[in-house]
Amino acid sequence: MSNINPLNYIHDRWRRLSPYEAVDPPEKLAEAAGIQENEVIKLNANENPYGPSPLVLEALRDLPNVHIYPDPAQVAMRKAIGDYIKVDPHNVVVGNGSDEIIDLVFRAVLSDGDAIINAVPTFGMYPVTAQICGANTISVPRGSSFEIPVHEVMACASKAKIIVVVSPNNPTGNLTPLADIEVLLDSGSLLVLDEAYAEFSNQTAMGLINKYPNLIILRTLSKWGGLAGLRVGYGVMNTALADVLMRGKPPYNVSRTAEIALLASLKDHAVLDSRAQVIIAERDRLYETLENLPGVDPLPSQANFILCHIAEGRAKMVYEGLAQKGIAVRYYSEGRLENYLRISVGTTEQTNKLIVALKTLV
Ligand SMILES: Cc1ncc(COP(=O)(O)O)c(C=O)c1O
Repeated sequence: MSNINPLNYIHDRWRRLSPYEAVDPPEKLAEAAGIQENEVIKLNANENPYGPSPLVLEALRDLPNVHIYPDPAQVAMRKAIGDYIKVDPHNVVVGNGSDEIIDLVFRAVLSDGDAIINAVPTFGMYPVTAQICGANTISVPRGSSFEIPVHEVMACASKAKIIVVVSPNNPTGNLTPLADIEVLLDSGSLLVLDEAYAEFSNQTAMGLINKYPNLIILRTLSKWGGLAGLRVGYGVMNTALADVLMRGKPPYNVSRTAEIALLASLKDHAVLDSRAQVIIAERDRLYETLENLPGVDPLPSQANFILCHIAEGRAKMVYEGLAQKGIAVRYYSEGRLENYLRISVGTTEQTNKLIVALKTLV
């Protein structure tokens, strides 16, 4: 065997990459808890406990034309999304999850030595993708209620090509007011506004798309649409930007299966909206119940999860105790979130089991 080290071919920034900490699949959680996979209560990735809409399940049953490549111009999907969110289809780019749109935008914009601004704590993909592009991440700490310190972001905006705002923010659940978003847009940097959880809140900046050519809004079918395993999301932006991304994306980036599921979801959006209302009501019930548990301090949330402070440094112990009972929540091993757990909103039955388990652990 030759003594070539294959890693010598690899870019230095890939070799040094700190990867995104993804959650374990149900089979692994089941094995760790010594239970069956269908007994796992998975509240660690903000998935939709009700799954896809009935129309999606029906449409996926016969899957026509999977032997033919999907439409690289995404005409049907862009039109359906345009009709749904009331923008021109040319404002839309569809991706293999919104993660792919993050990747496309960053690769289209960032070069070695560029910078992005990230208001932390927030969704972990942004610094990883920036690092892959050779760009630096300027991390601006959020304030005491996890709000974005707009003045501090503005003070360093001239150094950054991209400002990232996740609203509602993952994992803190709070919104960034539209007025703050407009201030940040006036900086002239490209603003990537991640609205993965917008359907569980009462706010969207979609109405600003035609006012600000430097605004890119990301949406996903993974949460509201219950399609996390199928991978489909989209970006909404100025038509010139969308055109560039359409030219640079892999031609068949969204599978026919994902296309069929997206089209059926948007047709069935009333069902998905009413399920979102059920999740919102369950979130509010979960919040009240958690508030009454000694040692647990939940944060108000506009998303489908709740971040909770766990007293006396017991977050890790509670996380492990829940995992042993087959209940998976999100634990953060470092930084400001060390003493917090993020709990996704599940069904009423799942919430009830979670609360019984939590009472024995906190
Ligand atoms: C804020 C945020 N943006 C984007 C994503 C990725 O979504 P997708 O499944 O569409 O790639 C997530 C997933 O958890 C998220 O929390």
